[in-house]
Amino acid sequence: MEELKKAIDEIVKQEIVKVVISNRTNKDVEYNKINFTLKETNKKAYYQIEKYTDKQVFHENIDVDYLGEKLLEYIESNYKQIGAWSTTTTFDLKISKKGKVFLGKKKNDNVNLVNKSHNKEKNYILKEGMMIQPLIDLGIFTKEGKIVNSKYDKYKQINRFIEIIDDEIKKNDYKELTILDFGCGKSYLTFVLYYYFVEIKNINVNMIGLDLKADVIQKCNDIANRYGYKNLKFELGDINGYKYNNKVDMVITLHACDTATDYALYNAIKWNSKMIFSVPCCQHELNHQMKAESLSILTKYGIVQERVAALMTDSVRANLLESLGYKTQLLEFIDIAHSPKNILIRASKANIPNEKKEKSLQEVEELMKQFNFKPTLFNLLKEDKLI
Ligand SMILES: C[S@@+](CC[C@H](N)C(=O)[O-])C[C@H]1O[C@@H](n2cnc3c(N)ncnc32)[C@H](O)[C@@H]1O
Repeated sequence: MEELKKAIDEIVKQEIVKVVISNRTNKDVEYNKINFTLKETNKKAYYQIEKYTDKQVFHENIDVDYLGEKLLEYIESNYKQIGAWSTTTTFDLKISKKGKVFLGKKKNDNVNLVNKSHNKEKNYILKEGMMIQPLIDLGIFTKEGKIVNSKYDKYKQINRFIEIIDDEIKKNDYKELTILDFGCGKSYLTFVLYYYFVEIKNINVNMIGLDLKADVIQKCNDIANRYGYKNLKFELGDINGYKYNNKVDMVITLHACDTATDYALYNAIKWNSKMIFSVPCCQHELNHQMKAESLSILTKYGIVQERVAALMTDSVRANLLESLGYKTQLLEFIDIAHSPKNILIRASKANIPNEKKEKSLQEVEELMKQFNFKPTLFNLLKEDKLI
């Protein structure tokens, strides 16, 4: 049993795309053959299992993390052979009558076995198997560098956030950046982003995480000290009214609730930050204010109003950024199955034609008139005479 487990562990260490379990030990074993095929839908990878009896095929899907466990469960005392294929290796595992395990391995040249879409999925910046200490300590990776099943969503979020940043910073040869993470919370993203800049991109960063929670800030500073991340600091404070006297190149927020995102965007605009990456959440402000006359169909049903209000909040933010010279996009941050808070505002300073800036502001003002609301970011910029 121990021997079998060791052999299976060795197989599943690789990115396995296909497995065939065969050669049953006796005729009473229910299935003649069991196949596992790596599949992907909605950006989530899984194995499809096909279990063959004489007349029928039964299907089951499992999470990629459970491959080893499932193989062991099926093969134990029931089958004598596993064939498995990764993108590089063919495995042939055989169990003798006396229960001895033999694991054969050879280089795989059958490229047709490779599931192309899955490879795309796996092409993450933070790959499984990389020994990223913050990800291990934060419980997202195991000590062996595998994703912890229950943290898969968090892993996807961090990866996607970093991918989007990577896309943007590739455009320039940055040597040094000052970055503010507003509403950093437990700082999963902050630590991993620091690692990404310093260890992967070799860019010197000076990073600050700000949050209202004293215990969280204390903990994060302790961790940063333990890693020797000397340019990563955490401060206790409110985003609203936060002062920083040097230039800030990038502002990020991940799920800074409701108007906390507006204050963060406002600070970034005031600092003339080059880049902003912000995933808002709990956009309640406009929902509470909204009243409509000609478009009352959108406020007639509570659930519709709530969703429309949230989408309008982010459209208004994007337009206001554009009106102040930011090239702005709203991107799907993460598949809705992984998080319902799935819009990311990406904005970078650019030469936006005046006409376009004016139009963006007009659109906001028209929407405000239609729905009788006054968004916080608009108010802040107006008070400051920035719009
Ligand atoms: C949902 S958590 C997200 C934490 C982290 N960014 C993440 O995604 O894991 C929101 C965080 O924003 C912080 N926050 C909310 N309003 C804030 C404000 N006005 N100033 C500073 N932090 C704030 C909260 O204390 C909380 O830790």
